[in-house]
Amino acid sequence: MKIALIGSGGREHAIYWKLKQSTYAEVDVFPGNAGIPEEDRKKDVFKEGDFQSFKDYLVKNQYELVVVGPEQPLVDGLTDAISESIPVFGPTREAARIEGSKEWAKYFMEKNGIPTARSFSCSSVEEAYDALDQMPAPYVVKADGLAAGKGVTVTESIKEARHAVQDCLERKVFGESGSTVVIEQFLKGREASVFALCDGKKAIPFQPARDHKRAHDGDRGPNTGGMGAVTPVEYIDARLLKKIQSDVLDKAIQGFASEGSPYKGLLYAGLMIDDDDVNVVEFNCRFGDPETQALLPMLDEDLAELMMQCAKGDLKTDFLRFRELANIIVVIAADGYPGSYEKGIDMTDLLGTMPESPDTLLFHAGTQLEAGSIKSTGGRIAGVVASGPSIEDARNQAYALLDKRKVPGTFYRMDIGTLP
Ligand code: AMP
Ligand code: GLY
Repeated sequence: MKIALIGSGGREHAIYWKLKQSTYAEVDVFPGNAGIPEEDRKKDVFKEGDFQSFKDYLVKNQYELVVVGPEQPLVDGLTDAISESIPVFGPTREAARIEGSKEWAKYFMEKNGIPTARSFSCSSVEEAYDALDQMPAPYVVKADGLAAGKGVTVTESIKEARHAVQDCLERKVFGESGSTVVIEQFLKGREASVFALCDGKKAIPFQPARDHKRAHDGDRGPNTGGMGAVTPVEYIDARLLKKIQSDVLDKAIQGFASEGSPYKGLLYAGLMIDDDDVNVVEFNCRFGDPETQALLPMLDEDLAELMMQCAKGDLKTDFLRFRELANIIVVIAADGYPGSYEKGIDMTDLLGTMPESPDTLLFHAGTQLEAGSIKSTGGRIAGVVASGPSIEDARNQAYALLDKRKVPGTFYRMDIGTLP
């Protein structure tokens, strides 16, 4: 099976690695990163905004499946442009609104009875201030559109909440993505990410994972794309997973079908769990990063086969098997991330050789090869993944590997896998 995988992050390195384990999969990544062998990278073919030429290239070169990693091309309609010619793993533009517009996502959840925080969508500062006045602290202010993980402010301070409203609506910090803001009730509890493979008719869940979104230890500092993840999640048992299936995943998949845009691809439910109470914080229209890097090495299934079945609308399984181990990823980021940070940090000593142990993996994220050296190109640079019989064993392995290979100008959280 000849597969085109789009993207360049840690998530895509993990998807590439897992797809390559399918004996009959040939995978090219558009454009990939330095973790992916040069012969499997196609660097200047995929361009945002020119889907027609990309489709022509894929057809001419006889690709049989397209897997879209990041959200932006999905929200922009890449699937719509290609799927009449080649099966695509990834939802259509209409269905991808579940991530592309928080206002639409809220409408969708309310319409389909999916539990979520009470909210107001506001397009003027006055409206937004009124909405804030109706909510108790802490305040949650969200830019409506895609904002690379930076469009959400959660704060105890009304002043800061109002400042976030002004950033979106007046200062246009997020451009058009912030021309509507969503003011939301604060949800307490512990977060979990549940991914589901969808074929338009059903949603089959992965085992849950837990992201660590804040930049620094003790869950402090600004929100990032994710600084680490663990799987499984000890506070989600089979009974709670069943509830997530019926109250969240099944309702969503039925909702998409009744909107006339059946959902094919990966549906990501970001959940807040407080004892038995489950609420959706957000849906995403693609695999999460870095949870994917922790989950895919545990998946005991042929991913290429499953993705093809989803893309064709005919997922043949009702249950995904996972290895009975815990897995962890610790993300290495450039000092300053998610604010401004340096690029071009030499990562060769850390990333130049793969660890020898079968229980550990290195996934690249923002990296490129420059004259034989591996240089950083982004805020999140790479991740160390380790598995073990318990989360503690997996942690010990991951941190032992990192201890030996500290790179100046980079940092990582020391507490992945230890949050209450
Ligand atoms: P989002 O991009 O919507 O996932 O928001 C980023 C992060 O902000 C989430 O992972 C949560 O940690 C936090 N967050 C978002 N919405 C809420 C909410 N309603 N209540 C509490 N925390 C929230
Ligand atoms: N790890 C959070 C996300 O992928 O959105």
